[in-house]
Amino acid sequence: MIDLHSHILPGLDDGARDMNAAFHMAALAVRSGVGTMVVTPHCLHGGAMEVRSALTRLRRTLHNFGIPLRLCEGMEIFGTPETAALLKAGKLLTLNRSRYPLIEFGFESDGTGETAVLEDLIRAGYTPLVAHPERYQYVQEDPELINLWKKMGCAFQINRGSLLGRFGEGPRTMAWELAGRGFATAVASDAHAATFRTPWLGDVRELLLEALPPTAAAWLLEENPRRIINNEELPSGEPEWF
Ligand SMILES: [Fe+2]
Repeated sequence: MIDLHSHILPGLDDGARDMNAAFHMAALAVRSGVGTMVVTPHCLHGGAMEVRSALTRLRRTLHNFGIPLRLCEGMEIFGTPETAALLKAGKLLTLNRSRYPLIEFGFESDGTGETAVLEDLIRAGYTPLVAHPERYQYVQEDPELINLWKKMGCAFQINRGSLLGRFGEGPRTMAWELAGRGFATAVASDAHAATFRTPWLGDVRELLLEALPPTAAAWLLEENPRRIINNEELPSGEPEWF
């Protein structure tokens, strides 16, 4: 499996606290069947250099300890009106240097400013991968926003924890709606530690296999993520609109 969203880089955000914690997260991911992980620390205005040097250190550690986890560069970017320009300037990073930036938003909002940020990114030639849209209350209350963002050309990443119900009933229901209606592009861990919000994707794969048509788990956990890190087009299927 390919995990597109993880806070495994030590010391950069509220994810792995140190190299030891990052090592345990990597080992856990590998045991659950993850072969590739994109590192996506929270970033706002920059940090590309810091991410790349932390990534080099973590790669070296995993190599020294024989942990077979391929790591790719990335960020979880808090979307603002400056995001598109900062990406163009190389201060912010897309997922593995693709056309796909992972974009998160604040929890207190109404979706208006967010739509403008996504429009900017698309105009600049990017395909935003919206991080965990199911967690935003304004999306739960007005899922037609998802129709709009989809028609604009956005892709959607659902959190493992949302599907498992770890963030409550609202995100759980919305996550399954997005997956079941064909809006979800990928499911990722959004892992922060080896003990809670972990990078274990084995359980959510089982759940997806039980609940959705048999090919869905492979598309969400392998095929679409592979296309994203290889900078390929995503399939242009029609979802069941809200
Ligand atoms: Fe995250």
